[in-house]
Amino acid sequence: MSAAGKIVVLTGASAGIGAAAARQLHRDGVKVIPVGRNAAKTAAIADELGEPGLTCNYADLSDVRRLADALLERCPRIDVLANNAGGQWVKRELTKDGNEQQFQVNCLAPFLLTRLLTDRLRESRGRVINTSTMMVHKHGHIDLDDLDSEHRYKSHEVYTSSKVGAALLLREFQRRNPDIQTADYHPGIVASEFARDQKFQQLLLKTPLGKPLQKLLDTPEVAAARLVFLCETEDKLDGGYYFKNERTQENPVVLDVDNARKLWDIASRRIGVEV
Ligand SMILES: NC(=O)c1ccc[n+]([C@@H]2O[C@H](COP(=O)([O-])OP(=O)(O)OC[C@H]3O[C@@H](n4cnc5c(N)ncnc54)[C@H](OP(=O)(O)O)[C@@H]3O)[C@@H](O)[C@H]2O)c1
Repeated sequence: MSAAGKIVVLTGASAGIGAAAARQLHRDGVKVIPVGRNAAKTAAIADELGEPGLTCNYADLSDVRRLADALLERCPRIDVLANNAGGQWVKRELTKDGNEQQFQVNCLAPFLLTRLLTDRLRESRGRVINTSTMMVHKHGHIDLDDLDSEHRYKSHEVYTSSKVGAALLLREFQRRNPDIQTADYHPGIVASEFARDQKFQQLLLKTPLGKPLQKLLDTPEVAAARLVFLCETEDKLDGGYYFKNERTQENPVVLDVDNARKLWDIASRRIGVEV
């Protein structure tokens, strides 16, 4: 898909991988609609792009609905929806919608946005790209009977499960919407603001103490180029997983059609859209 003139809705554009991808896409002539949570950070990247930003807090599903309305009003076409916003949090918290926070922010909210934009994506012959993680495809699993992690909360495991959920739903979305292209990808282990409430990790990322580790990490720019590749490639995307711009073997867990259908029904009910 030739990049210039395309419209890309990019969530999580206010920091890290998303902000770097927004700049790279903009340089390629793409019209990027930047979506962030923090208003000041979103305004800063929006200024760089010369394109007004939109804010949304994924911990509030009514805010996601408001975002979708604003996007439908503003974008006559959506060539790419890049579901990149996400995070990992140490403490278990429930959102005002009653869902465990990581499950909502990483799985339910992007699913809701995707569902609300589906018709526009189909009319545009567009694509949906999800920022996933290699943990999903190495050893990820999901317990459909404990989606809110009531019985066990280990931040890292819950994060991975929430991304497994997003991967299952993306593949079910692809089966139901063959006219829309989809893919997910691992961006790398990236020196961004990720896991910002984890003090030890931040110490390693941001101080001289972590210098040896920091050398091993990818920069946001390198990670962003992997997202930009999927936004711009002429190759047809058919719901696969990518790492370093190559189609890579998926975890069979995300190909489980029965589980995908079950999760589709549960998630649709939780976000209040048609099953
Ligand atoms: N960093 C890594 O090593 C790594 C590895 C694998 C996958 N990933 C994935 O890559 C994606 C981007 O992460 P990053 O590394 O660039 O981290 P980051 O620098 O922390 O950026 C995260 C982005 O998501 C937004 N966000 C966080 N919570 C949100 C919420 N409740 N509602 C709406 N937006 C929210 C942030 O908005 P504000 O800044 O405005 O709050 C920010 O724009 C995430 O999906 C993450 O899971 C990262």
